[in-house]
Amino acid sequence: MAMECFVIEGGQRLSGEVRIEGAKNAALPLLCCSLLTDDTVQLDNVSDHADIDNMLKLLGELGMGVERTPGRIRVTGTGNDTSEASYETVKKMRASISVLGPLVAKRGKAFVSLPGGCAFGDRPVDLHLRGLRALGAKIEMEGGYITVSADRLKGATIFLGGPNGSSVGATENVMCAATLAKGRTVIEGAACEPEVVDVARLLRSMGAKITGDGSPRIVIEGVDELSGASHSVMPDRIVAGTYAIAAAITNGQVVLHDFPYDSLLCALDRWNEIGVRIEKVNAADSDERCSVRVFSERFLRPTTITTQPHPGFPTDLQAQFMALLTQAQGNSIITEKIYTERFLHVAELARMGAQIQRNQNVCVITGRSPLSGAEVMASDLRASACLVLAGLAAEGETIVHRVYHLDRGYARMEQVLSRLGAKVQRVPAEHVREIAASRGPGHRLGLAASPFPQDEG
Ligand code: EPZ
Repeated sequence: MAMECFVIEGGQRLSGEVRIEGAKNAALPLLCCSLLTDDTVQLDNVSDHADIDNMLKLLGELGMGVERTPGRIRVTGTGNDTSEASYETVKKMRASISVLGPLVAKRGKAFVSLPGGCAFGDRPVDLHLRGLRALGAKIEMEGGYITVSADRLKGATIFLGGPNGSSVGATENVMCAATLAKGRTVIEGAACEPEVVDVARLLRSMGAKITGDGSPRIVIEGVDELSGASHSVMPDRIVAGTYAIAAAITNGQVVLHDFPYDSLLCALDRWNEIGVRIEKVNAADSDERCSVRVFSERFLRPTTITTQPHPGFPTDLQAQFMALLTQAQGNSIITEKIYTERFLHVAELARMGAQIQRNQNVCVITGRSPLSGAEVMASDLRASACLVLAGLAAEGETIVHRVYHLDRGYARMEQVLSRLGAKVQRVPAEHVREIAASRGPGHRLGLAASPFPQDEG
């Protein structure tokens, strides 16, 4: 892939309106549900994320017919039952593991590469396998591949909690598989994330019998087959939170449409404490998709954040909040309990003048620290978003390298931010030096060597 950068001129107060795109972390498992039926599954409000492209490629490899028009995807079984997800495809996106459950439930077999790790640590799949084994699947691992097989899955009562609490992916995988198992399945210790509820909604419209989704105990009565359905993907709560912080960190005022208020109550509680105001524009709007006005009080206050499974603070907003908290008057504490290594953005923020002390999975952020532009390196998807946010607030010019990480979960972020008044350009990496040269000798440009393997997360 061509290496591209964002070149950001900081200091612009954002203003204007943005509609929040469909959720990547809902669309990915929703697409996997299409494997459970020979009919057509249609998804609307699907956004242009690179991860979605990868998933469509994987479904094609698995013999599904895919039709894509702007915002809409239709997937139909073609009867060509290849059940192999290659390492080539899986290494780009660990969410590929989500095809395991549907494949073994519908076709009786699946052959998927182990996803490996990503930039912020290893990403185990033991809970996925525990759940499928409990449903009677036979699991073999050979040469980095998992083979899962079963004549007919049988319902079971499963505890799916892991060392860090519940697992979103494992819950979705097992819930999908259980829809076609014989008998009742109880998933205890299930993930409660809104994206799990969105997947359960589609499965119910396909004829599945599911109750308890959104709670730690999900009950599924198996059926013999599922039919096609249409479903609109829920708005992306992490993208929504990212753009809300873009408005706050630039002391701007932005209206966000399709804001998933009800999925962000913990983040809203923290924003309230910090002094970021997020007010519904129309009181009559539903809390699931509403319009909100975002602006911040003149001085931001520090806070403490601990990431936890939903309804706790979302780990996917941790890096973005850290950028914001560098501008608060006082010391904030962030504790990361889901991915204890998810601090690749800390060293990069420090290069921009942030004062952050890290001790294992705890960071103390000293504010207010004025940020100044620098060349920084994107790594995982949300660390990249954090660096863009810092660049918006920094004095001078920031260059964020390797923005392909950002494209995995944000559709054309530079266009969205530019429409809100930010000075952001997407530039091929080789042109960055020309920019530096055009600014003369005083301009600081020294490419930070990237210690990070390409993020596979
Ligand atoms: C989903 O990943 C999201 N990805 C992640 O978003 C998100 O950070 C994560 O949930 C937590 O909210 C998608 O939905 C595609 P987990 P997932 O299984 O399902 C441990 C982003 O930025 N665990 O809920 O892989 C795991 O190590 C991405 O959009 C096991 O121990 O996350 C972690 O500590 C990054 N064994 C915790 O559970 C397992 O078998 C939560 O992981 C699985 C997970």
